[in-house]
Amino acid sequence: MHGGAGPIAEDTVPARLLGCREAVQAGWMVLSHGGSAVDAVEAAVVTLEDNPLFNAGVGSPTNSDGQVELDASIMDGAQGAAGAVAAVKRIKNPIRLARRIMQDQRHILLVGEGAERFARAHGITLCDPQDLINPHPRRPEQQHGTVGCVALDHAGRLAAATSTGGIANKYPGRVGDAALIGCGTYANHDSGVSCTGIGEAIIRVVLAKTVVDLMRPGVPIQVTAKQAIGILAEQTGDEGGVIVVNERGDVGYARNTTHMPVCWVRDGGDLVTDI
Ligand code: GLY
Repeated sequence: MHGGAGPIAEDTVPARLLGCREAVQAGWMVLSHGGSAVDAVEAAVVTLEDNPLFNAGVGSPTNSDGQVELDASIMDGAQGAAGAVAAVKRIKNPIRLARRIMQDQRHILLVGEGAERFARAHGITLCDPQDLINPHPRRPEQQHGTVGCVALDHAGRLAAATSTGGIANKYPGRVGDAALIGCGTYANHDSGVSCTGIGEAIIRVVLAKTVVDLMRPGVPIQVTAKQAIGILAEQTGDEGGVIVVNERGDVGYARNTTHMPVCWVRDGGDLVTDI
């Protein structure tokens, strides 16, 4: 699980790490009861969409019209299936809607009003746009915090999911990497990736798929994660972070920002956190 790449005020570090731990516990609860990697990443991401400290779901920053617009995507590596939503204003948990779009199989990405109509037709209740606005907005420099998760389940299936409110004061209708398969989220049989950072830069280097394409037998996954962030920095001059899990359950992560809260668990062992 990651809780977004970017600077973090020291006094919020414990709460952000706690949030990531709670999300990983939610995902692990699914996996330890025999659930799938897709179920696990959905459960974990919902936990942080509901946590106003993170830039996803409730607590997301507003666009230049003062509205929250949310992006999310999910990919099932075993099936090669994906679902995504962009610029939705009345969905409390966009990752649930992305999952529903994936299950429906007709489309990959739905945006705005069409996505919300699909939600209503598939039993997802629309919220009041005001419900997504944080009553205690954070300072602009603290408004990052995209969330993402990758899981490997008992059957060896990988899944990845990412959810965000995007960047503060963005142009209405702006869509970032978190809604785009291959950019913010990607999974196949061998690896799963979730990205965070400046969406425009991540899109330009197709970062999630780039990580997967860089994977080589015998090369530590951590080296590959760092290599991908090196490409992001070199080709765009911008900032971001990635998390990656392979088919053996090896975990890699890298960032070129000051912070990126991460948490993971393997085989029911202790939760590990880093910042
Ligand atoms: N990475 C989140 C965004 O730029 O929208």
